[in-house]
Amino acid sequence: MKTLIKINLLLIIITFSILNVSAQNSSQLISKNGTNTTLQNMAEKAEVLYRPQIHFTPSKGWMNDPNGMFYKDGVYHLYFQHNPDSNVWGPMHWGHATSKNLINWKQEPIAIYPDSIGMIFSGSAVVDIKNTSGFGKNGKAPIVAIFTQHNMEGEYSGRTDFQNQSIAYSLDNGYTWKMYKGNPVIKNPGIKDFRDPKVIWHDATKKWIMVVAVKNKVSFYSSANLIQWTKESDFGEDLGNHDGVWECPDLFTLSNDNKKYWVLTSSINPGGPNKGSATQFFIGDFDGHSFKSNSNKTKWMDYGADNYAGVTWSDNGPEKISIGWMSNWIYAREVPTFNWRSATTLPRTLALKNVNGEMYLTSDASKFMYALPKKIQLLSKGNGKLNVPSLGSAYKISFDQNNLSSYTVSLSNDLGEYLDFGYDSITNQFFIDRTLAGVHKFNPEFAAKHFAPRLAVSKTTGFYAIVDKASIEFFADGGLNVMTDIFFPTVPYTNINIISNNKKAVEQRFELSTFLKN
Ligand code: FRU
Repeated sequence: MKTLIKINLLLIIITFSILNVSAQNSSQLISKNGTNTTLQNMAEKAEVLYRPQIHFTPSKGWMNDPNGMFYKDGVYHLYFQHNPDSNVWGPMHWGHATSKNLINWKQEPIAIYPDSIGMIFSGSAVVDIKNTSGFGKNGKAPIVAIFTQHNMEGEYSGRTDFQNQSIAYSLDNGYTWKMYKGNPVIKNPGIKDFRDPKVIWHDATKKWIMVVAVKNKVSFYSSANLIQWTKESDFGEDLGNHDGVWECPDLFTLSNDNKKYWVLTSSINPGGPNKGSATQFFIGDFDGHSFKSNSNKTKWMDYGADNYAGVTWSDNGPEKISIGWMSNWIYAREVPTFNWRSATTLPRTLALKNVNGEMYLTSDASKFMYALPKKIQLLSKGNGKLNVPSLGSAYKISFDQNNLSSYTVSLSNDLGEYLDFGYDSITNQFFIDRTLAGVHKFNPEFAAKHFAPRLAVSKTTGFYAIVDKASIEFFADGGLNVMTDIFFPTVPYTNINIISNNKKAVEQRFELSTFLKN
């Protein structure tokens, strides 16, 4: 029915049936769904349908923001906001996972537990190579974690100083941690929202710099030893979006055209361009004391609904790799996964692009996909049904188009559920439509179509999208336009239809890479 409507609207429809989920598998899932509504069965079904293959998820319990990411001795460390004993937000710990390629993750024992000062909220970690903190022993560099401690009793009793910045250190490369006895290292200045410190080494002033979110702006602090901190300045009260509270900032450098720029990112909730949680960025200069933006435009890292609190890795060299929490505070506590809640986004390499004199951040996840064994199919040659080896595998769809035609890529199943994404040349917008993608009644705001204005000035609309069971990450125009959305089909999508008014362009090169399970 939906396809018929589209035929009337567009000139040519090219249809490829791709995901070859065996009929047996699908019907097993349907009958389970139809006859069994116990929570246990729903949880088992969610494990099969929604547990991603190439994204990190905790084995059980709740997760939100990624925290404290650093790289050392060939290992990427990822910590995360974690409530291990429940699938909703609660007493926050730092969970821990490690990876050698940022795609295959191993969950490690919990890293940092709440104590009498408070729960362990978001923050960062650095390798203190010069042992400025003095925590190192026998010539071994300590890892120092800097985070917010949130005191629940303080909040309930009506105080305003219940969020303070604390530190912990590790002498075994991030596996076990000791709390610093003199915590907190920065006391709350009397503002309820004072959290999520991100610390970097600032080479020009030979100091550690902390950027921390303070209600509707960020503050910068400096330190020689990660213990004593001096307030430097504030930024952002009169720039960017202010429809919500600023959270999880980051500060780093990137180059474009041989010129170095400082990038400041700040998540905000609510206030995102497609409602709820999202991350904005500012580009400009930072001299070790204050940040100056070179534009007064509000700019977003990702226009989808599900990329929040992203920050970059520390100590991995000049490349800036960011990872975010793939959910949105509007409905994160209600998504139908039961045993666990939330995944991280794919890692993304960040870069800068100049668009008509305005500098923008670009994101690219494709490089990390090379680590995965895959099967590649050129769909234009398939002309019909193509087989994908395993149920609900993660896959990448890519498409090079040489003009500005509209296109829609529609992933669908036999129950009539579909997820559409694409580009509309009339409105000059990218979109993801998850209105009828599957289960959505858990929150009235979930079913929606999301839009991203097209920023690029180039004449092509090439894209790639990575789908991993219950998520899509859609990168267009060389990563200038990014949309990340989650969705919950009742049975896996079994078809991919490409709808475009430019048959030639679609036939040119439309490729599917299925990532094979290791
Ligand atoms: C962002 C956030 C942070 C806070 C953490 C608590 O999602 O609200 O500001 O530190 O989550 O879990």
